[in-house]
Amino acid sequence: MIVARTVQEVRQWIRERRWQGCSIGLVPTMGYLHEGHLSLVRAARARGHQVVMSIFVNPLQFGPREDFDRYPRDLDRDTALAAEAGVDLLFAPPVREMYPQEPVVTVKAGALAERLCGASRPGHFDGVVTVVAKLFHITQPDEAFFGEKDFQQLRIVQRMTADLNFPVEVVGCPTVREADGLAMSSRNQYLTAAQRAQAAALPRALAHARERCERDGERDARTLIREVSEELSSAGIKIDYVSVVRDDNLEPVEQIDRPCRLMAAVWVGQTRLIDNVAIDAAAAGANCPEHRGQHPEAAVPGVPLR
Ligand code: PAJ
Repeated sequence: MIVARTVQEVRQWIRERRWQGCSIGLVPTMGYLHEGHLSLVRAARARGHQVVMSIFVNPLQFGPREDFDRYPRDLDRDTALAAEAGVDLLFAPPVREMYPQEPVVTVKAGALAERLCGASRPGHFDGVVTVVAKLFHITQPDEAFFGEKDFQQLRIVQRMTADLNFPVEVVGCPTVREADGLAMSSRNQYLTAAQRAQAAALPRALAHARERCERDGERDARTLIREVSEELSSAGIKIDYVSVVRDDNLEPVEQIDRPCRLMAAVWVGQTRLIDNVAIDAAAAGANCPEHRGQHPEAAVPGVPLR
C-alpha cells in the first residue's frame, strides 16, 4: 500500500493506474478506522477496483462547538488496518494540503441539508459536500463507497453527483454493528462503559419500531416515532430527533406506504449518536423467522442489520 500526503502524489498514482486500464474505487473517511470503514473497502475490492482510501478530519464540517480538536486520530493504527483490508493507496493529507488558503468557492447542500442532522448542525453538510467534491476531483473515482450509517450524508452526496454531473457512481453500503446492535462509529470511543450499555437502547428501539411496522402492520409514522421516543427516554437517552422519511428523498412521511427510513439522533452524555433502519410495510416476507433473526440483539459482529 502506498501512503500519499499530497494531491500531486495522488494524481500521479491515479494517472499510472488509469494508464494500466484500472478502475478506481474511493472510500472517503475521517479515520480511526473500524469494521464499518473496512466493509466499504471490501465492497470496493469486490467490484474489482484499485482502492483509494482518504483519511482526513475535515475542519469545514465541524461546528465551532463541536469535537474537531478531540476527534480520535491514530494514523499508524489506521495505516496497518487499511493495508490489511486491501487498500492500494491511502491518502492522508494534512489540513494545509486540502485547504492551502481559506476556501471561498464551496458547495452548498441546499434544502436536503436543512432537516434532520442539518437542523442541529448548521453548515455541516456544506462542509461534507465541499470536501467530497474536492476528493472526487483529486482521485477521479469510477465509484465511491459510503455507509448507510450516515444516511442523510449518503443521499446528499448522491444528489450532489447528480446535480453537478460528477462522473462517479455513489454506492451505499449497509451499516455494520457491534454484537449488541450499536452502529460502529469512531465516536463510540467517547462513551464510558455505562454510557456504552445505555447506547444499545438506540438500535434496539429502531429495531422494535421496524418490527411494529413490518410484523404488526403499524403504518402510522407518528405512532412509531412516539414509541421509539418513549423507549429512548425510558433508557435515559436525550433525543435530538426521531423521524420517518422517504428512503429516496428524505421527505417526512405520515403513512409508511413506500420504502422509508426511520432516522434518529440522540445524546448519550456529551456524545451525539445517529442511527437509522429501513422500514417498509410492504416488505415481502416480513413475518418470516429468518427476518426476525435480524434483530440487532441477535446480530453477530460485522453483520449488517439492513
Ligand atoms: P466517517 O465518519 O469516518 O465515515 C466514513 C465512511 O464510513 C462514511 O461513508 C460512513 O457512512 C461510513 N461508516 C461509518 N460507520 C459505519 C458503519 N458502522 N457501517 C457502515 N459504514 C459506516 O462520514 C465521514 O467520515 C465524513 O463525513 C466524510 C464522508 C469522510 C467527509 O469528510
